[in-house]
Amino acid sequence: MEQLFGKRILVVGATGGIGQHLCPLLKQSGARLFISGKRVDQLQKLVGQWGIDESYSCACDVTNPSMVQQLFHWVDKHLGGLDILINLSGIGLIKPIDQLAAEEFEQVMRVNIFGAFYLTQAALERMRKQQRGLLVHVPGILGKAPMAGAAAYCASKYALVGMMQSIREELKRTAIRISLLYFGGVDTPFWDHLRLQVQREKLIRAEEAARAVWFVCQQPDSGVVNEMVIQPFSHQVL
Ligand SMILES: NC(=O)c1ccc[n+]([C@@H]2O[C@H](COP(=O)([O-])OP(=O)(O)OC[C@H]3O[C@@H](n4cnc5c(N)ncnc54)[C@H](OP(=O)(O)O)[C@@H]3O)[C@@H](O)[C@H]2O)c1
Repeated sequence: MEQLFGKRILVVGATGGIGQHLCPLLKQSGARLFISGKRVDQLQKLVGQWGIDESYSCACDVTNPSMVQQLFHWVDKHLGGLDILINLSGIGLIKPIDQLAAEEFEQVMRVNIFGAFYLTQAALERMRKQQRGLLVHVPGILGKAPMAGAAAYCASKYALVGMMQSIREELKRTAIRISLLYFGGVDTPFWDHLRLQVQREKLIRAEEAARAVWFVCQQPDSGVVNEMVIQPFSHQVL
């Protein structure tokens, strides 16, 4: 297994439900963490809570390419390179197609696919120099299977899978790996604003999803966890 001790890790979406459980695990494992989220106040609160030096954090809206460049500028300055990018940023939307406004569709695409594109491109620029690294993205099960009302979200997550699988082909001669995590429903604030009745107590627990991401970061030197699928036991889509 790869040791996390001393690994330079950027977590984007650290302020979210999975991120909030993942970052303490990474920190306990001795990783050198840089954290990012969209909400400045929430990020500052977590920095204090986790005892992270404030200069190892930066608020960033991933839909804004100059903010992403600025984020990586600070990562370079404070970590001096990047071993692992974990992208947990994302937004959900459940609406049937006849009620879906073009602006809503566009916003989901901007966060879930354009954001992932800007982050991946910036991370690869650093990883190519060292010829190794790990990119972790979370398409979720709706990057593999359709769901009524999820046209915008599925479009963004299927796009993420297509983009990352194509990039994987480009990286075959390097030691840069890509891991895609396909979670079914995870009990996080992600569900708070969705128009869908779910039994939250039956979803995957956020701490278990975080532990899966943590595990993937330690994959064996000789292999790669290309994908991992975890679904709520009582609601298996695939
Ligand atoms: N929860 C699930 O059931 C589930 C299932 C499968 C896949 N996923 C995927 O897993 C990832 C993490 O989900 P989660 O459950 O932890 O969701 P969450 O609690 O809603 O957290 C989402 C994260 O994305 C960040 N974010 C949203 N818009 C952003 C933007 N424009 N720029 C930068 N960051 C932005 C949020 O930042 P702020 O909080 O600071 O706004 C937050 O840190 C997402 O990609 C989601 O699509 C979730």
